[in-house]
Amino acid sequence: MERTETDVLVVGAGIAGLSAALAAEEAGADVRLATKARRPEEASTWWAQGGIAITRDDPEQFEQDILEASAGTADEAAIELLVENATETVRDVLVDTVGIEFDTNGEEFDYGQEAAHDQARILHVNAETGKHIHVPFLNYVADETDVTILEDTAALELIRHEGRVHGALLEHDGEWAPTFAGSTVLATGGIGALYPRSTNPPSATGDGIAMAALAGADVDDMEYVQFHPTACHTDTGTFLVSEAVRGEGGILRNGDGERFMPDYHEDAELAPRDVVARAVTTERDRTGEVTLDVSGLDFETEFPDLAAKCEQHDVDWTAGISIAPAQHFLCGGIAVDEWGRTTLDKLYAVGECSRTGVHGANRLASTSLLEGLVWGQRAGEDAAGNPVEPIEPPELLERDPDLPATFAKDKFRRLRRVMDEMVGIERTPSGLKRAQGVLRRLKGEVDAYVRTRTSRSLYELRSASIVSLLISRAAAENEQSVGCHYLVDDSEITPSPESAKQ
Ligand code: SIN
Repeated sequence: MERTETDVLVVGAGIAGLSAALAAEEAGADVRLATKARRPEEASTWWAQGGIAITRDDPEQFEQDILEASAGTADEAAIELLVENATETVRDVLVDTVGIEFDTNGEEFDYGQEAAHDQARILHVNAETGKHIHVPFLNYVADETDVTILEDTAALELIRHEGRVHGALLEHDGEWAPTFAGSTVLATGGIGALYPRSTNPPSATGDGIAMAALAGADVDDMEYVQFHPTACHTDTGTFLVSEAVRGEGGILRNGDGERFMPDYHEDAELAPRDVVARAVTTERDRTGEVTLDVSGLDFETEFPDLAAKCEQHDVDWTAGISIAPAQHFLCGGIAVDEWGRTTLDKLYAVGECSRTGVHGANRLASTSLLEGLVWGQRAGEDAAGNPVEPIEPPELLERDPDLPATFAKDKFRRLRRVMDEMVGIERTPSGLKRAQGVLRRLKGEVDAYVRTRTSRSLYELRSASIVSLLISRAAAENEQSVGCHYLVDDSEITPSPESAKQ
């Protein structure tokens, strides 16, 4: 790999990274976009189902819905910025520029309804919206712009000099070299790989958050790990059953066949996600199973992709889809302002790896693609204006790319078990303390290898261990149950069947 220079280096090719790259390029910058993905489905955006919320005739109610879902903890200025830019940005970028055809009903968009939204305001393409946004957006940036896309290329470390970030060390095919940049935009997505059950792709190892934290950037709200209430876990894999199914009338039933959500919340199946995830956990523990009853819907017609996925995984949806919560989204991350600027000079963060304040302690459905798009565009515009400053290249130690074959796999297994058992949907103060002890030791073992090795799996493990520690530390420091952070007594925790298998 060769040492290179660019005006803007974007790391990550989901909706936030693509939006930042496009905006920076349109502002006249030379842009390089590095993604460790080899195929589109390795980006989290590809996996998103429900859709992208926009502002219809009642922006204040949309703002209120976001705030209420967050249990009043979200940042009102950030929410306002999201809502006021939502419709225009979606139209400009996704509809008019990229040409995405969201589902329509005659002349009008076919607005979907999801939990905790006061009105139907979700643009979607079937219930596989992420895929239908991601692929054309990626193709557009690759074919119609001058952005250079570097696939299968991971960022290992940020280059930092005198308080400013100057790009990153990139790795491709075992070789690595610095890319110097006027601005560096992190868009590395989520942290699903830290949990045994997640709706994210396995590549979601929290790399951007770990790199930013190591370089000294502030990270906030890390304890707010959102679990989606309705994932279907089968021997052939886990898949998400979109909230849109409950929006259209899907009913949650416990192992005794009873509908239970009205006992937990006045909005029943459409209560905020954290409330539904905990209720599902309680009812599974109490009655052995929870199923999503779709008999009141024309499931195959309304959700053809999901019906096909059930078939692919041998799930008979006519008998009710057996579901359980799975890690889904990190509401916190690298602290940024309204332009995606982090606390480090010339370092930006957008999308799931960032913390804009929009989500607070719990995210409202179908606002993550929107946040990535809006903040991506703003960060790209802002990032385009920073010149590359010449600095001495960092000293590159000679390192061995290889690792003992099972090292990363074994450590990942241990890490996931700790996160699942002690830093999951329900947490205890003593569990969080124990988790930090185990994770600190694990990080120490990983750091010892990082001094002499550069394999990508080792760096992913390092990212995961740093982010796990950040999450468990933030959770231990927050003594108040709110949103996704829920504290119970030791006696109330039941280990999940999945963690027992690890
Ligand atoms: C879903 O389709 O249920 C997920 C949507 C989201 O996470 O916003």
